[in-house]
Amino acid sequence: MKTVTTISELRAERAKLTGPVGFVPTMGYLHAGHLSLARRAREECASVVASIFVNPTQFAPTEDLASYPRDLARDSHLLEDTGVDLLWTPTPEVMYPEGFQTWVTVDEVTKVLEGASRPTHFRGVTTVVAKLFNGVQPQRAYFGQKDAQQAVVIRRMVQDLNFPIEIVVCPIVREPDGLALSSRNTYLDSAQRQAATVLSRSLNAAKDAFHAGQHDADKLRALVTEIVNAEPLADLEYISCAHPDTLQEHKGKVDRVLFSMAVRVGRTRLIDNLIV
Ligand code: PAJ
Repeated sequence: MKTVTTISELRAERAKLTGPVGFVPTMGYLHAGHLSLARRAREECASVVASIFVNPTQFAPTEDLASYPRDLARDSHLLEDTGVDLLWTPTPEVMYPEGFQTWVTVDEVTKVLEGASRPTHFRGVTTVVAKLFNGVQPQRAYFGQKDAQQAVVIRRMVQDLNFPIEIVVCPIVREPDGLALSSRNTYLDSAQRQAATVLSRSLNAAKDAFHAGQHDADKLRALVTEIVNAEPLADLEYISCAHPDTLQEHKGKVDRVLFSMAVRVGRTRLIDNLIV
C-alpha cells in the first residue's frame, strides 16, 4: 500500500491504478464498520483507494474536532491488511489552503435530522467529499448506512453535480449487543457503554411493532421515546420516522420508514438508524 499526502503525489499514484477504482473516505480511527467498506470495495473493484482526514469544516466549534481519536499507524496496518492499494492522508493545509472560499451545499435534505442541530455539518461533508472525489476520481465510492442522512446527501450531490461515480451504501456493523460501531464509542465509560444499547434496542422495538401491525408514525415515535426515556443515562435528542429518500417526516400511516435517532449518553452524542 502506498501512502500519499499532497494532491500531486495523489495524482501520480492514482494514474498508475487500473479501474474500476473503489474509494472509501474516512476520518480514521478505523473499526470493523470502516473495514467492511474497504472489504466490499476490494471485492468489487480492481483497485481500492482509502482516505483518512479528520475534516475540520464538518465540526462545529463546540464539537469534538480537537479530541477526535486518531491513530494513523494502526489505521495504515488495518487498511494494508484489507488490501487497500493507495491511502491518501491529506493535511488541513492540503485540503483548505489559505484563501479557500468555495463550498458545496445541498439544500433540503440537509435541513432536517442531523442538519437541524448541526447547521454547518453537511456543508463541510459535501465540500470535503467533493474534493476527495475530484482528487481520487473513483468509479465507485463506499459509504456506511450508519450515517443514513450522509448517504442520502452524498447521493443527491453526486446526482445534482453529475459526478460519474456510483455510490454504494453498506450495512451497519454492530457489536454483539447491537451498539453500532463508532469511533466515538471510545468516549463511553462502562455504565454509559451499557446504556448505549438503548439506541438499537428502541429501534428494534419499533421494527417489531411495525411488523406486528403498528404503522402509525406518531405511535412508533412515542414507543422509541418511551424506551429511551426509561434509560437514566440516555437523553433523546430526536427520533425521526421519515421517508428513506426525501427524509421528510411521516404523518399518520406509513409503509417504508427510515427510523433515525440521536441520543446523548453523558457528553457523547450517538446516532443510529434502521429501515423497515
Ligand atoms: P467516518 O465517521 O470516519 O466514517 C467513514 C465511513 O464509515 C462512513 O461512510 C460511515 O457511514 C461508515 N461507518 C461508520 N461506522 C459504521 C458502521 N458501524 N457500520 C458501517 N459503516 C460505518 O463519515 C465520515 O467519516 C465523514 O463524514 C466523511 C464521509 C469521511 C467525510 O469527512
